[in-house]
Amino acid sequence: MSNIEQSDSFTLGGRTVKRLGYGAMQLAGPGVFGPPKDRDAALAVLREAVARGVNHIDTSDFYGPHITNQLIREALHPYQDDLAIVTKISARRGDDGSWIPAMSREELTQAVHDNLRNLGLDVLEVVNLRSMLGIHGPVEGSIEEPLTVLAELQRQGLVRHIGLSNVTSTQVAQGRRICEIVCVQNHYNLAHREDDALIDELARDGIAYVPFFPLGGFTPLQSSTLSDVAARLGATPMQVALAWLLRRAPNILLIPGTSSVAHLHENLAAGKLVLPDDAMKELEQVAGINAA
Ligand SMILES: NC(=O)c1ccc[n+]([C@@H]2O[C@H](COP(=O)([O-])OP(=O)(O)OC[C@H]3O[C@@H](n4cnc5c(N)ncnc54)[C@H](OP(=O)(O)O)[C@@H]3O)[C@@H](O)[C@H]2O)c1
Repeated sequence: MSNIEQSDSFTLGGRTVKRLGYGAMQLAGPGVFGPPKDRDAALAVLREAVARGVNHIDTSDFYGPHITNQLIREALHPYQDDLAIVTKISARRGDDGSWIPAMSREELTQAVHDNLRNLGLDVLEVVNLRSMLGIHGPVEGSIEEPLTVLAELQRQGLVRHIGLSNVTSTQVAQGRRICEIVCVQNHYNLAHREDDALIDELARDGIAYVPFFPLGGFTPLQSSTLSDVAARLGATPMQVALAWLLRRAPNILLIPGTSSVAHLHENLAAGKLVLPDDAMKELEQVAGINAA
C-alpha cells in the first residue's frame, strides 16, 4: 500500500505541499467533457488521494465544465486545512467540447467566481493564468492584460497566489514583473523536454514547476528504454516516469492524473522509488538526448 507521508515537500505559494499531488482532469467524462462514467468511482479517487496524504490537487472549472470542481467539493468539502487546491482560468468550453480562449476581463472575473462557487471556497489558494495564445503549446505574446486582471482579483482577496501555465520563459519573466508568480505549469515529461532550462532557472528562484502530462497525457508514455529500466528496478514504467521527474529537479511538483484508485496507488508509490544514476542517464535516451 502506498503512503506519501514520508515523501519530500516543497513550498507552493504560502504552503508546504508534498511533491506528489494529484491532477483531477481525468475525472470528467471523455475528452474532459461532461460527467464521469462512474461518479462514485471518481469521488472514491479523490477521497483516497487525500486519505493517502495528497495535499495538492490540480483542477479547473473548465474541466467538465464545472463537473470536476463539483466532484472535488462533494468528495472533500469541508477541506482539510493543509489541502492546496490549485485551479486555472482563461478558457471556456464550446457546446461541442472545444476549448475556447476566455481571456477578457469579464471572462477571467467570471471564471474566478465560478471556481469559488463550484469548489465552495471564499478564496482560491493558487490560480494559474493558462495562456490561450496557443491552445496546444506556448506561443509568444504579451500576457500583461489578463495577468493584470488576475492580480487585481488577488488584491480584492479572491485569490491568494498566482501561477502561469502554457507559457514561454519570456512570458514568465514578463509575468514576474507584474506580480509574484509562485508556480509554472507547462507540458513536460521524460520525452518532452523543452523546458529543461526554464526548470533550472525557476529552481534557483524557489518557484515550483508543475509539469502537466507527467505521464504523457491522453496517450501515456511508451518506450522500450523506460520499460527496461522499470523491469530492472521492479517498478512500473509510469512509476519510473514519475520518479525521474522527482529526481530531475527539487522544485518539480507532480500532479499525475487518473480516474482509477489502482493507478493512484501505483503513482503515489513512485515517491518511494529512488532512481540510481545509471538509470537517470539511460532514461535520457527517451527524449533522444545523448547522455554519454
Ligand atoms: N495547464 C494545462 O494546460 C494542463 C493541460 C493538461 C493537464 N493539466 C493538468 O495536469 C494533470 C495531469 O495531466 P493528465 O492527467 O492530462 O495526464 P498524465 O497525468 O500525464 O496522464 C494521465 C493518463 O495516464 C493514465 N494513467 C495514470 N496513471 C497511470 C498508471 N499508473 N498506469 C497506466 N496509466 C496511467 C490515465 O488513465 P487512467 O485514468 O485510466 O488512470 C490517463 O490516461 C491533469 O489532471 C490536469 O490537472 C493541465
